[in-house]
Amino acid sequence: MVTDQLEKVLSESMGSFPDDKLFLVVDQNSNLFCLPLLCDTHHIEKFKKIVIPSGEENKLLASVEKIWLYLSQNGADRKSLVVNLGGGMVTDLGSFAASTFKRGVQFINIPTTLLSQVDASVGGKTGFNFNGLKNEIGVINQPLQVIIDTRFLKTLDHENLISGYAEMIKHGLIHSQDHLAELQKFDLQQPDYAILQGMIAHSVIIKNFFVEKDPNENNIRKALNFGHTIGHAFESLSLSKGQPLLHGHAVAFGMIAELYLSHLNSGFPDGNMHFLAKWLIAVYGKYQLSATDYEALFELMGHDKKNEGKRINFTLIKSVGEVEINQNCSKQQIFEALDYFREMNND
Ligand SMILES: NC(=O)c1ccc[n+]([C@@H]2O[C@H](COP(=O)([O-])OP(=O)(O)OC[C@H]3O[C@@H](n4cnc5c(N)ncnc54)[C@H](O)[C@@H]3O)[C@@H](O)[C@H]2O)c1
Ligand SMILES: [Zn+2]
Repeated sequence: MVTDQLEKVLSESMGSFPDDKLFLVVDQNSNLFCLPLLCDTHHIEKFKKIVIPSGEENKLLASVEKIWLYLSQNGADRKSLVVNLGGGMVTDLGSFAASTFKRGVQFINIPTTLLSQVDASVGGKTGFNFNGLKNEIGVINQPLQVIIDTRFLKTLDHENLISGYAEMIKHGLIHSQDHLAELQKFDLQQPDYAILQGMIAHSVIIKNFFVEKDPNENNIRKALNFGHTIGHAFESLSLSKGQPLLHGHAVAFGMIAELYLSHLNSGFPDGNMHFLAKWLIAVYGKYQLSATDYEALFELMGHDKKNEGKRINFTLIKSVGEVEINQNCSKQQIFEALDYFREMNND
């Protein structure tokens, strides 16, 4: 739920659990920047706190083990509550640790980055990176509650803010012209957090719409992968070059290329495609790509876990709000889409 009464909502939820069974998972940054906002919560001092190191590079089994060990040594049992306060790294890891400890204890997510508020904390996907692969180990398990408060976003840097914004833009593109229009109007340089709160609520409703219809991603939940097949390839390529892109930036760039595929394959109107591509570049900046990167990108798309066999499977849009899943595109079409991405970057 999106609320401006975080303290009240949290203390009510805590009330159903024994005082000595409350656990809080934070990372170094959410401990520093976000926990102080909870200081007025009734009985907040009852929580036993586990601090894990910040950053995607710590989304590892070692951090999960740290949580399990603390829970085990401090009397956690099936009646316990784990509250995860942090970005997507903390909510994914903490939710996984809670879901597997003693075959599952209840957990609440309090996401503190825009990406985690509109995406990571909704839908029940939990897990950690393993063997060099993102989210290789995990389970799908729903939190008892998700509490969203935009006050946390005030300490978030601009790059992380716009990273989360990309998922909101995606929600607009796949499901709602109205949502897209409000996102286009919003001033990202001087965010009005009250307006943002309403837009986050809108975005969460859209994500939930797809998750509830298809929790295990057998069909329509794949709509949420728009921009992600090429986006993940950009994300991996940039990582291998030692200049990692944030997830949302990679998705924004992926959406430009996949808008082109949508035009080729599904008839998305070219005027709107150019307009949206220019807007995305204005928000996310330019990303230099060379034709010599194409083969590597294609290989990376082939390895995307959402593809079956050798087909490259895309989620495309026919128009804003009209999504088409399980679309196959040829290597030639994909290379043409990468050409379009480079042209837009050179404008
Ligand atoms: N479960 C899902 O469905 C799903 C969906 C999308 C992404 N994810 C996962 O989410 C993660 C990315 O999420 P993220 O971008 O939130 O990353 P993150 O949790 O690493 O947060 C980004 C940075 O911001 C810091 N931070 C968090 N809140 C802050 C605040 N309020 N003020 C200042 N700094 C703050 C963090 O410590 C970190 O350094 C990835 O691991 C990704 O796999 C999961
Ligand atoms: Zn994403």
